[in-house]
Amino acid sequence: MRAVDIIAHKRDGGILSREEIAWLINGHVAGEIPDYQMAAWAMAVFFNGMNAEETAALTEVMLRSGAAMDLSGIPGPFVDKHSTGGVGDKTSLIIAPIIASLGIKDPMMSGRALGHTGGTLDKLDAIPGYRTNLSAREFRRILAKDGFAMTGQTRDIAPADRLLYALRDVTATVESIPLITASILSKKAAEGAEALVMDVKYGSGAFMKRKSDAEALARSLVHTGVLMGKRIVALLTDMDEPLGNMVGNFLEVEESFVCLEGGGPGDLMEVSLELAARMSALGGKAETIDEGRALCEKALAGGKPRQLFLDNIESQGGDVRKFLSMIGKYRSEYSAEIRAARSGFIARIDALKTGRAGVQLGVGRNRAEDPVSPVAGVQFHKKSGGAVKAGDLVMTVYAKDEPALGAALPQLEEAVEYGDEAPDARKLIWQ
Ligand code: URA
Repeated sequence: MRAVDIIAHKRDGGILSREEIAWLINGHVAGEIPDYQMAAWAMAVFFNGMNAEETAALTEVMLRSGAAMDLSGIPGPFVDKHSTGGVGDKTSLIIAPIIASLGIKDPMMSGRALGHTGGTLDKLDAIPGYRTNLSAREFRRILAKDGFAMTGQTRDIAPADRLLYALRDVTATVESIPLITASILSKKAAEGAEALVMDVKYGSGAFMKRKSDAEALARSLVHTGVLMGKRIVALLTDMDEPLGNMVGNFLEVEESFVCLEGGGPGDLMEVSLELAARMSALGGKAETIDEGRALCEKALAGGKPRQLFLDNIESQGGDVRKFLSMIGKYRSEYSAEIRAARSGFIARIDALKTGRAGVQLGVGRNRAEDPVSPVAGVQFHKKSGGAVKAGDLVMTVYAKDEPALGAALPQLEEAVEYGDEAPDARKLIWQ
């Protein structure tokens, strides 16, 4: 085979065989196919797409390019959730202890913040002592003990995706549904989950700005997951406004803990419980989604998820007493308030503008090697639908330093849209 022929075949709208896909991807990992040919191929896929069989073949080849987590000997079921990313999205931290309390294991391998979207690992790193670089042995031990373990992807998980994603990032080929599908599912399959709930976000702060694109991605993820033998469902959820009342690394861990104590904001609880309900059904603990939701709510009220959250902090090297003493206090000294510019209602708080301001503040990063701040972020005192009088407190803003604060404040002021009447309630979840 020759790479140039495979590229030309895809460029001309052809369908690639499993052998062609395997030859190309494995050749790239082996260093035999140069980046420039892979980039040309990715662009051909971007324009001409892939059918379901090609997408499944690509996913499997990328999965097999590296190691998979061995969960043998640990009783399942193993169910995980994956979100396509957003602003203020900390549902993973809330859901894992809830479903673990029902007897489901959640083997979570997560990523870091990049661009305007947050990353679970950066949030967890804000807990003093907490380790997100577990060895496979530690991951297994903690998963068996607490029912969930949270770590970063090791270098041997789907290396083909790591190489291809880095190329896509710099060649404007990220936004391709088959390439996103294969990238996500190859990594999720490697962590050992038997069943998956996909939270496909759409709106200004999401990858997919339009609902129709999010639907197409959801369909592709479910179809490919089924072809790979997974039990898999997808929900479309709103990411036009940040989720919950906190955006920031420690702030989001804190808000997750508050949710487990029964005090979380309505939008965050709603999305978390709907995702957890589906995970409990996929894990065989409930016959229906409603039954699953009732189980999750009962578990929360009983307090076991809160305890499991604290147990997991300890298992992963964190200092529970210190963590508890930081709640409500661990904030940057560089802070400012944003007050309502006029009386009326908050019509919307734009997720993308908030996320971009978050990068300025130090919550996220633009380059993979940039550091993030644990204490930077935004706390919302009002969100869409909230009535305000001019001068009411809308946000408290925390920055990594004074210049960052100065740069982010105008962006955050711009993120708030006002109206004379209460806006229609946001629809958070679409099936
Ligand atoms: N997240 C991934 O892991 N891969 C993609 O291609 C896009 C989002």
